[in-house]
Amino acid sequence: MAPASALAREVPVRVRGVSYSYENGPKRVLDNVDLTLRRGEFVVLTGHSGAGKTTLLTLIGAIRSLQDGAINVLGLELGGRGTAAQEEVRRKVGFIFQDHNLFAALTVFRTLWLATGLTEEPPSREAALEEARELLEQLGIGQHLHSLPRQMSTGQKQRVAVARALINAPQLILGDEPTASLDHQSSQMVIGVIRRHLAATGASALVVTHDDRIFGMADRVLRLQDGRLVSDT
Ligand SMILES: Nc1ncnc2c1ncn2[C@@H]1O[C@H](COP(=O)(O)OP(=O)(O)O)[C@@H](O)[C@H]1O
Ligand SMILES: [Mg+2]
Repeated sequence: MAPASALAREVPVRVRGVSYSYENGPKRVLDNVDLTLRRGEFVVLTGHSGAGKTTLLTLIGAIRSLQDGAINVLGLELGGRGTAAQEEVRRKVGFIFQDHNLFAALTVFRTLWLATGLTEEPPSREAALEEARELLEQLGIGQHLHSLPRQMSTGQKQRVAVARALINAPQLILGDEPTASLDHQSSQMVIGVIRRHLAATGASALVVTHDDRIFGMADRVLRLQDGRLVSDT
């Protein structure tokens, strides 16, 4: 058998028999989900509203604690609440939230610089500035390096959230509808930037989307229906 670290490199996400219920909800919103993400893969997760996509993504990103089943992310086994593994996964994964989650009082650069502070060896301000410039340029929002969220459109803020997720060159990117408020051209640009990151670093991405134009850019499309994975094409 391959050593654990080699396995983690080849299989950055392994979900086994995961079920989930919200305290105040009677039904299971995830029902015995199995999913494997391999190194370098770009996988789309789709399904109707309320299917459980966000719940599954937040479990994998360790933003939510596991109830049933097992999840291994980047070689770390996610257990219950507040474990060291959860914190490490949160630090290592590039998570793009559905509602972008930007601090109103921070400029784009401050936001990105703050994110670089989560790494084991944070870069200098100059290096972070250089990296931020480059990323924002690729995402078509280079002119917004020193803008505040209120000075940008929803689509521009969403691209800042993408830049924040990518700036630490994560081995895993989790995106919750990262192109929902973008026009087709900007969506293609964002997905293109993510794909180039994967190609350059061997990272993997799991991205929730309803946009069937993005399906064609994915290695696989997974579909959730009422908490069950019903197809894997
Ligand atoms: N915090 C919560 N408390 C109770 N129920 C929730 C909560 N978040 C989501 N749900 C319910 O769980 C189900 C799955 O939600 P979600 O994972 O957000 O689906 P999706 O992202 O596919 O739209 C839905 O029925 C939703 O109403
Ligand atoms: Mg959702």
